[in-house]
Amino acid sequence: MITLRDVSKTITEPDGSTRTLFDRLGFALRDDDRSVAITGRSGSGKSTLLRILAGLDTDFTGTYEHDGRVLERTPRRMAEHRLRHIGIVTQDHSLLGDRSVLDNVRLGVPARAGSTDRARDALEAVDIGHLAGKRPRRLSGGEAQRVAIARAIAKHPVVVLADEPTGALDETTEDGVLALFDQLQQAGTKFVIVTHSERVAQRCGRRLHLHHEQLIECGT
Ligand SMILES: Nc1ncnc2c1ncn2[C@@H]1O[C@H](COP(=O)(O)OP(=O)(O)OP(=O)(O)O)[C@@H](O)[C@H]1O
Ligand SMILES: [Mg+2]
Repeated sequence: MITLRDVSKTITEPDGSTRTLFDRLGFALRDDDRSVAITGRSGSGKSTLLRILAGLDTDFTGTYEHDGRVLERTPRRMAEHRLRHIGIVTQDHSLLGDRSVLDNVRLGVPARAGSTDRARDALEAVDIGHLAGKRPRRLSGGEAQRVAIARAIAKHPVVVLADEPTGALDETTEDGVLALFDQLQQAGTKFVIVTHSERVAQRCGRRLHLHHEQLIECGT
């Protein structure tokens, strides 16, 4: 489905020194994967890896393949790929505070036609249809997280990339989000979830650990 081969990335620290973040890292999201957890220490590069998978970071060497075809590693080609196939839930939600919840979710749908219907369906799917007219800044952390998830799923992506999707939530709210992910997985959406939470990682079908610039498969 999605494969990264020999991905290497070096970053420049503020003091001018360089650090290797990934060294010929490999990753494959397979057709039969439903959920993959990625764990690793803070600063190990988990968010960066999700940004690469989302096509938001094209500053790396190596190849990105989709369904066996190598994608040209340009922002334009990767944006096209992302719009079609990938939903992303970022670590900080990135919601626009001065637009309604419905508008925020509509922004996740590439085609203007039908975007309102899709956005409403996505809000219903995550049980917050009643919040459509609210401003994100008036929402609780759990509600804002659901809006971010609704925005990610509104275009019916094949894959949802979620960065610490339950990081700011209490356990009950976390359980609600995880139940929602299970439901979406049953409907065919794949999830790649970056998490520090053992509870979240345990519920994923596969676990990968980012360590020493590599992704290591953990026993299931
Ligand atoms: N574009 C960039 N330029 C320079 N440094 C960067 C860039 N992006 C990320 N970094 C650095 O790369 C490292 C990895 O960052 P990243 O956000 O991917 O870590 P993380 O594993 O997600 O951490 P956390 O668990 O705290 O969210 C950090 O040291 C960060 O400062
Ligand atoms: Mg991160």
